Amino acid sequence: MNSYKIIEHEYDVVVLGAGGAGLRAAVGLSEAGLKTACISKVFPTRSHTSAAQGGISAALGNMGEDDWRWHMYDTVKGSDWLGDQDCIEYLCKEAPRAVLELERYGVPFSRTKDGKIYQRPFGGMTKNYGNETVQRTCAAADRTGHAILHTMYGQALKHNTEFFIEYFALDLLMKNGECKGLIAWNLNDGTIHRFRAHITIIATGGYGKTYYSSTSAHTCTGDGNAMVLRAGLPLQDMEFVQFHPTGIYGHGTLISEGVRGEGGYLLNSKGERFMERYAPKAKDLASRDVVSRSIALEINEGRGVGKEKDHVHLHLNHLDPKVIEERLPGISESSRLFADVDVTKEPIPVVPTVHYNMGGIPTNYKAEVMTVNGSEKIVPGIMAIGEAACVSVHGANRLGSNSLIDLVVFGRAAAKRAAELVKPGTPHEKISNSETDKCLERFEKLRNSNGDNRTADLRLEMQKTMQSKCAVFRTEKTLKEGVEEIRKPYEGMESISVKDKSLIFNTDLVETLEFDNLIRQAIVTLDSAYERKESRGAHAREDHPKRDDNNFMKHTLSWCEGSKTKISYRDVHRSTLSNDVQYFPPQERVY
Ligand code: FUM
Repeated sequence: MNSYKIIEHEYDVVVLGAGGAGLRAAVGLSEAGLKTACISKVFPTRSHTSAAQGGISAALGNMGEDDWRWHMYDTVKGSDWLGDQDCIEYLCKEAPRAVLELERYGVPFSRTKDGKIYQRPFGGMTKNYGNETVQRTCAAADRTGHAILHTMYGQALKHNTEFFIEYFALDLLMKNGECKGLIAWNLNDGTIHRFRAHITIIATGGYGKTYYSSTSAHTCTGDGNAMVLRAGLPLQDMEFVQFHPTGIYGHGTLISEGVRGEGGYLLNSKGERFMERYAPKAKDLASRDVVSRSIALEINEGRGVGKEKDHVHLHLNHLDPKVIEERLPGISESSRLFADVDVTKEPIPVVPTVHYNMGGIPTNYKAEVMTVNGSEKIVPGIMAIGEAACVSVHGANRLGSNSLIDLVVFGRAAAKRAAELVKPGTPHEKISNSETDKCLERFEKLRNSNGDNRTADLRLEMQKTMQSKCAVFRTEKTLKEGVEEIRKPYEGMESISVKDKSLIFNTDLVETLEFDNLIRQAIVTLDSAYERKESRGAHAREDHPKRDDNNFMKHTLSWCEGSKTKISYRDVHRSTLSNDVQYFPPQERVY
């Protein structure tokens, strides 16, 4: 029996996370008349969606001909045929409507001369099934995520979503395999809260902070993913970690692909536009895994720039300064701040940097969480959206600007499905205290730990292991070492030290809880990567350089208990939802 006075809340639906996906869902739920709570560990407009720069994809055709089927083909190809084609069809078909809806909600998109939403080229986005580049990525300069986030927060307030800000979620309340809500800790006053909900929607983003160098905010610790693992449910395709080709060297800050969309290009130490060799057609606008691998190869073969020859240069100094000022103000500022570079005069030093997790909580296209027990099964009471989810529309590699559209399309889909499943005001069935006690046991154990290991040291050990053993290129040897080494910081938790025992704004405890969340995801990422003996999308194995559709055109599912994992697989969905488009069979993936 815990010693806390639990503060009770009852909602129709609880959304955990207030980024683009969480807010879009919250708006839809509130619009549908469902009593909705949105819980976030940070102030909503500080969510990581604010860091999304280049844009949001949708075949609007504002800058020339486009078709959602071409978008679908590009996404299937970008996913290296690991994406579920029914979900990809849903994403691409719904995308134009979702963007126009954002426009109506008030997102301040950049405009063409005739007042339409401005769209720029982005990696892997083409027309006529791979034949020509297309301008499909709708942009608000290079601050698109920021613009969407602020607009959606305003809309959520307008629609009376109830916010619980600076609340840290501890665990899901599970009863007989169904989710009944969650337990959260209010960082401001130290109180513990039990949120009952007919549906809990997880929108907690990715877990980039398992790595040493990433474009992710410090808050990107995949808290919802870890809660799902602790609930005995699997995560999916965790081996697929995206490296963005252009993080600022030594700092990791994102330099948008929009730079290359507007005409920027990469050069090695010999002054060569090396992407012409790796992707003769798409060049600098090939998909991200291809560009990141090409940069890594240039560096490995001694053609990197700088004293250590360990990065490359991104040039935009040839562009009209007016274009830079209007369309790329954000990256101009970041380059000045973090690399001391005036982009109108000098190149930006860049290197592939961890940016996105294709893997996450398995869902169908309605955002319902799935597990596999012989066949796919929906887990009642829980949904997942955004980067926390693995729908899977991105498969083994996500195309740039397909993340923001994923947030709003599936945020909306989750709200729609929840409104079908829940009648507003339905009473909650009784739940015993034992589920709550279980959540608080872990919390108390960590809060009262008095060992010798500092959380920061264990986290650094984990990050260095991930950075070196689960990198752009992987081998049996590095992965095997990684699988063994990553368990050391996990074991280190047995003797972890939390010095601050208080309950109010205890950042020591927050970081320890976040580390506990991260390390579980690091373990399943490495174990899943070790078991996938092929190269596909972002998972590039030097010892298995080819894609192996016979044995590995399937999703990895990983369960984790302590440091023990169970790996299993489920088939990729090979059919479409409607007759509007045909299944795209696997092809060789060249750009
Ligand atoms: O490069 C970028 O602007 C990032 C976009 C994305 O990850 O979708």
